[in-house]
Amino acid sequence: MSVVLVTGAAGGLGSMICERFAAGGWDVIATDRPGTQAVTGDQIPADLLDVEQIREMVAQAAALHGRIDCVVHAAGLWTEGPSEATTEDEWDRVVGVNLKAAYFVSSAAIPHLEASGGSIVMISSDAGIQGNAGAAVYSASKGGVSNLTRALALEMAPRGVRVNAVCPADIDTPMLAGQARDFGGGDPDGYYAKLRSAYPQAERARFLKPAEVAEVVWFLAQPSAAGVTGANWSIDFGLSAGI
Ligand SMILES: NC(=O)c1ccc[n+]([C@@H]2O[C@H](COP(=O)([O-])OP(=O)(O)OC[C@H]3O[C@@H](n4cnc5c(N)ncnc54)[C@H](O)[C@@H]3O)[C@@H](O)[C@H]2O)c1
Repeated sequence: MSVVLVTGAAGGLGSMICERFAAGGWDVIATDRPGTQAVTGDQIPADLLDVEQIREMVAQAAALHGRIDCVVHAAGLWTEGPSEATTEDEWDRVVGVNLKAAYFVSSAAIPHLEASGGSIVMISSDAGIQGNAGAAVYSASKGGVSNLTRALALEMAPRGVRVNAVCPADIDTPMLAGQARDFGGGDPDGYYAKLRSAYPQAERARFLKPAEVAEVVWFLAQPSAAGVTGANWSIDFGLSAGI
């Protein structure tokens, strides 16, 4: 049976990705911060800010079923605010989970993915394709993820491993609710309305459902996507298509 390792597995998107792969008959290995609980899969907690914990977690995951066929990096942190106010700790946490962990989870998984002919799917963002005003740190981290995807895809292509990213716009998850709570100035509905006002759908604009993103992640892991590598697949209602 095929095996997927999902980071951020207790989160809004990660949990739906675990469920999608489980529904497709895959064994699911779910990793998230110690103290959290993913809804589906074998749990291997790890703090992704610690590279040693990452390496230990991937080694345990590979030992569990003797193989890894896909790694999905769905852990992530959001921050926004004026760049003159950003702390070093904020930069380190956001870039650490979004980008550095994406790199070291992938790096640790390479031998196992090479053995299985598997693939990596990164969760980038529309902010990996274009800058988001007021979210320079998050945009820097996701721009890094999107270009990491391209470089790693080229490096791994001769070794039979595919590397892709999905780049979603706003998804209805605890992260988005946290954004509205922490950065909405006491007016979460106003925060949501401002986000929706950027979409080309105008009054028809809505946020993505986690299952809509999980479906594309699932597709990218399948043999039918054998020709897809190095892609940054936008799922953003056209938000990054232009003005
Ligand atoms: N929600 C959105 O609007 C949106 C839009 C585009 C991209 N994304 C990206 O999708 C991914 C999933 O986000 P989500 O919306 O499900 O958020 P979420 O907050 O629901 O889930 C993120 C998960 O990452 C985990 N995590 C954070 N720091 C960690 C650490 N140090 N070690 C281990 N795990 C850690 C959290 O515990 C959480 O379960 C993220 O990469 C996010 O940047 C989200």
